[in-house]
Amino acid sequence: MDVVVERDEAACGATVADVFDRAVRSGARTIGLATGSSPLSVYRELIRRHREEGLSFAAVRAFLLDEYVGLPAGHPQSYAQVIRTEFASHVDLAGVSGPDGGSSDLSCAADSYDALVVSSGPVDVQLLGIGANGHIGFNEPGSALDSRTRVTTLTSQTRQDNARFFASVDEVPRRVITQGLGTISSARHLVLIATGEHKAKAVAAALEGPVTAECPASVLQRHLMVTVVLEEGAAKLLGRVRSGDAAGH
Ligand code: F6R
Repeated sequence: MDVVVERDEAACGATVADVFDRAVRSGARTIGLATGSSPLSVYRELIRRHREEGLSFAAVRAFLLDEYVGLPAGHPQSYAQVIRTEFASHVDLAGVSGPDGGSSDLSCAADSYDALVVSSGPVDVQLLGIGANGHIGFNEPGSALDSRTRVTTLTSQTRQDNARFFASVDEVPRRVITQGLGTISSARHLVLIATGEHKAKAVAAALEGPVTAECPASVLQRHLMVTVVLEEGAAKLLGRVRSGDAAGH
């Protein structure tokens, strides 16, 4: 596991963008995208490189980690729409796929999205954020480390954390479809970005605590190719950060 600590969010974005840039220029065909605040600096930097440095995604298909259940198509906070607004509409991706949170058969939609990710994959590089409770995708604490894409329920903490994107917490959907921890782990390279002291506890548990369903992001410790890019505040509780090998793997 490579752990890189950067001074600020923009530097984190540039470092993560370097990983995607290298992968895409050397032939990656599938990338995995996350939503929320953490990846925004990455998307800004990739858009800049697309415009100014000839970075093309024309041969690349993108797969989303998760989607809210029940938001109408085109709702500004549906993750399909967020990715369009923040990234996809500014670059030349060959396509973007995500779980169908509006399906009348959600469990079937989850299964077919898992099958799509598997048959199109493995995802070459998967971008991840981390929740303050250690979730990745929307795999909340208690999620099986080998779980597949499924319908699940958000914790009240995650709904509170995401309320900033909605008019009130009551508008944050309770249910989501998320790629499972097993699905996410099937990507070749996992890249986690975290900024802010409010993530420090989750980051330390994920990288240095036991591998347990209670901290879903701890599944990263089992993966062979992981890059973690942290802003100083998010790295604050790490006890063993050394260049290139923070978790002793
Ligand atoms: C969203 C996702 C979530 C977020 C996490 C952190 O697609 O996968 O795991 O990455 O909730 O969210 P932010 O970045 O908003 O703090």
